[in-house]
Amino acid sequence: MRSVIDIVDLSVEELDALMKTACDIIDNPEKYQEVCRHKKLATLFFEPSTRTRLSFEAAMYELGGNVISVSSANNSSAAKGESVADTAKTVSCYADIIAMRHPKEGAALVASRAASIPVINAGDGGHNHPTQTLADLLTIYREKGGMDNLTIGLCGDLKFGRTVHSLINAMSRYKNVKFVLISPEELKVPSYVKKDVLQRNRIPYYQTTDLEDAIGDLDILYMTRVQRERFFNEEDYLRLKDSYILTPQKLNNAREDLCIMHPLPRVNEISVAIDGDPRACYFKQVANGKYMRMALILKLLKEAGTI
Ligand code: CP
Repeated sequence: MRSVIDIVDLSVEELDALMKTACDIIDNPEKYQEVCRHKKLATLFFEPSTRTRLSFEAAMYELGGNVISVSSANNSSAAKGESVADTAKTVSCYADIIAMRHPKEGAALVASRAASIPVINAGDGGHNHPTQTLADLLTIYREKGGMDNLTIGLCGDLKFGRTVHSLINAMSRYKNVKFVLISPEELKVPSYVKKDVLQRNRIPYYQTTDLEDAIGDLDILYMTRVQRERFFNEEDYLRLKDSYILTPQKLNNAREDLCIMHPLPRVNEISVAIDGDPRACYFKQVANGKYMRMALILKLLKEAGTI
């Protein structure tokens, strides 16, 4: 049974095909409004979410399907100690496809091995968030007209930021892409990502702590939140949380066609004064996420022979 746990579970050809389907859904929504009739998506969210859970649910409704949902760990039998594998086997009896978010790294993989229906990883701890990356890729494609020849700045918590790890993995597979990794010393990209993805694929990158110094080089600036929930020590979180705050003044040296992205939710990382700037693309990412999730649900249900 085909599941999507990591963005590299999808080839570049499949990513391109998903973007094509998403663009067709945007242009011709009526073509898709009955394709998942009588099919059910189960959203199992053991960690908080606004965008991912609601966009998966909106996606399934817009495909004509139905949704059943666990919206927090406390209101499911996980609170009584039920395992992820038993939960996945149980939900396979009720639904046609699962989207699951869990605080533990690897939980979605465990679920996919136990389930008899496709499982989509909607975020597992600080590890991966492949459908956020699908939203990011469609945003880059629509804003930049393609995926090649881009310099991408990633800024903030690059250590625990699962969206960052998935995006590096995805964009490293396109041509002539460069990365600028902007973070405090304590929140640098993990060495396994640098070694296994950037160095192995000979992708040019440099690391810096200085956002203003780097900003003029960038086609894309991907801001991220310092995530309180990933810290063991509140003092460290408080010291690092406001390391980078993007303000209009900091955009003085930025390109006119810079694309400013953020997976959201934001706390302080981007001043609301930037929301009206034509370079602000973070709410476009939110909208694109629903269309890419529609495309992915369609693909996995077709491959499973469900539709
Ligand atoms: N980007 C993202 O995953 O947002 P939520 O946590 O609100 O789902």
